[in-house]
Amino acid sequence: MPENPLAIAPELPRHFDEIDQITREVFGPGMFARAAYKLRERVLPEASLSFVALKGNRVVGSVRQTRIWIGNKPALLLGPLCVLPTFKNGGIGKRLMLEAVEAAKTFQHDEDVNLILLVGDLAYYAPFGFKQVSADKIIMPRPVDPGRVLACELSEGALKAAEGEVRAWA
Ligand SMILES: CC(C)(COP(=O)(O)OP(=O)(O)OC[C@H]1O[C@@H](n2cnc3c(N)ncnc32)[C@H](O)[C@@H]1OP(=O)(O)O)[C@@H](O)C(=O)NCCC(=O)NCCS
Repeated sequence: MPENPLAIAPELPRHFDEIDQITREVFGPGMFARAAYKLRERVLPEASLSFVALKGNRVVGSVRQTRIWIGNKPALLLGPLCVLPTFKNGGIGKRLMLEAVEAAKTFQHDEDVNLILLVGDLAYYAPFGFKQVSADKIIMPRPVDPGRVLACELSEGALKAAEGEVRAWA
């Protein structure tokens, strides 16, 4: 029987349980202590900006984006980005990233959101437009390796203007 092709689709409520299982499997219990988790724990991901990778009906990867504040400006927090270990290095993470950043660019026109923030490895995220940010200017709610706080501008100059404490949207 032919293998199911991979599809990237908007995240729906019916995917929540599988996404939860994948994130727990990939990140382990340490995920609850992370700065990014604290920002997301009481806020639903933005449905129009969050995507799943599907093989048939099975969720094999996920990327989410959640609204946050940086100082007094709205922004997005990207993550978790995760792919089931058996599907790693097959380009799924890249496809999810491209879809998420593209959707954020459209969202930006409507919502005055000019920046995507994430905590991750620069080597992986740089090709999607992410750069390291200054830990003195953008202050995370929990200790985090400053070299891993990255941002992608959705409009020119957004990073220069971003300043202050990063807070949950709620
Ligand atoms: C990181 C992750 C999302 C990448 O997704 P993927 O579908 O496996 O990766 P892709 O096929 O898109 O990309 C593979 C490439 O990225 C590289 N890569 C993977 N993780 C990387 C990392 N943390 N830093 C730098 N490069 C990385 C691989 O070496 C590979 O390089 P190549 O193309 O030169 O061979 C996935 O491996 C995963 O879920 N990892 C565990 C969770 C995690 O670390 N999430 C990101 C933190 S927010």
